[in-house]
Amino acid sequence: MKKIFRKKPINDLLLKSGNMQLPKTMGSFDLIMLGVGAIVGTGIFILPGTVSALHAGPGIVFSFTIAAVVCALAALCYSEFSSTVPVAGSAYSYSYIVFGEIIAWLVGWALLLEYGLATAAVATGWSGYFVSLLEGLNIHLPVALTGAFSPENGTYINLPAIFIIFAIGALLSLGMKESTRFNALLVAIKLGVILLFIVVGVFYVKPDNWTPFLPFGMSGVFTGAALVFFAYLGFDAVSSAAAEVKNPQRNMPIGIIGSLLVCTVLYIVVSLVLTGIVPYTDLNVTDPVSYAMHVIDHEWAAGIISLGAVIGMMTVILVMMYGGTRLLMAFARDGLMPKMLAHLSEKRKMPAKNTWLFTLIISFFAGFVPLDLLAELVNMGTLVAFIFVSAGILYLRKNKNLPQDRFKVPFYPVLPILSFILCIFLITQLSLHTWIACGIWFIIGIIVYFTYGKKHSTMNSNTK
Ligand code: ALA
Repeated sequence: MKKIFRKKPINDLLLKSGNMQLPKTMGSFDLIMLGVGAIVGTGIFILPGTVSALHAGPGIVFSFTIAAVVCALAALCYSEFSSTVPVAGSAYSYSYIVFGEIIAWLVGWALLLEYGLATAAVATGWSGYFVSLLEGLNIHLPVALTGAFSPENGTYINLPAIFIIFAIGALLSLGMKESTRFNALLVAIKLGVILLFIVVGVFYVKPDNWTPFLPFGMSGVFTGAALVFFAYLGFDAVSSAAAEVKNPQRNMPIGIIGSLLVCTVLYIVVSLVLTGIVPYTDLNVTDPVSYAMHVIDHEWAAGIISLGAVIGMMTVILVMMYGGTRLLMAFARDGLMPKMLAHLSEKRKMPAKNTWLFTLIISFFAGFVPLDLLAELVNMGTLVAFIFVSAGILYLRKNKNLPQDRFKVPFYPVLPILSFILCIFLITQLSLHTWIACGIWFIIGIIVYFTYGKKHSTMNSNTK
């Protein structure tokens, strides 16, 4: 019992990250750009359509607001962790310090679900826009090759989704460093097409389309909130940059809250315009934002938006794949998974084997499993990690040996507790099949831990 709850000494982890003395170059504006680059993807180009059509109606704006509040609270907890113990591995490493090995493993296992399936889900979203872009150019792919396995809809495999995952896997295996300038360019394109949609679309809004505003009642809004939660994922990328930020006490919260605020405003405005142009009942399509432009006969705008979406979603796939492969590396470094996964290629100094394994497995999910199923599972995995990070703050504060001058969650202990409760609430809004799928995932995780991780953990040599 004692063994599975053994905690990693903070100094051990700090030491390992110690040789990563990164220069402190980023300010709050850079952080907001980083955040928006990592966050805005499928969430804005697809979910306002599908979730309003099936769950929330135009009231999806409330869903986006609720999800934003939950994320903001969790984000504050992430910021406190990342500025107090700036180690790699995010929620997984934080849990290793405060809760012990088995919990850390389960949180990591949940994060693996998040990164892995988020990659697959965003690739599926990317594919919808890519196909619509090709159609605009009069290139028609056979329908059978453009969707997850679903014979009743005539689709068998999503080839474009598999293609983009391999393409980005290849990019990562070149050891490509995401440069801030490259990121800023892509973010600018992304924001440009979203503004184009708003500016063109706003003239075609018919307020009649907003009645009824809450066709599925408040319960639809809450289910919607649990689903659009997905749209905010990626902000933990901001908290993981803590070590490279100037004056983190001030800039981290501005960066995190700022990027969430920018995204929330964009999501709400896009949802309002979208459900104002097209009745929400018609929005269950793979490319709702450009579809709306077709409806109002602005083919040119539809084309530009598809192109922008295709470019914009790629940064999200990149960040998620990066996160997933680095997490596998952290597991392997700690002995909880085979050492091979932490092996760096001589030439490129990146985990090549692990990147290809990840690419292969994830492309299978993207090619065959439907998007809605994937996205819900991603949310579940993430909420589990948020729950532990929120609760972890209460334990972290008890440790008086840590530096005390770092960023602290305001209104302690109210906000971390509220964050904890709201995350649990959102989890209860997810569907039964997601609970079952997630349960199976955790059972596999526990089996892997007891048959492999526990025996090979590097902590074994520490505690002998
Ligand atoms: N937030 C990311 C997206 O919406 C996952 O694509």
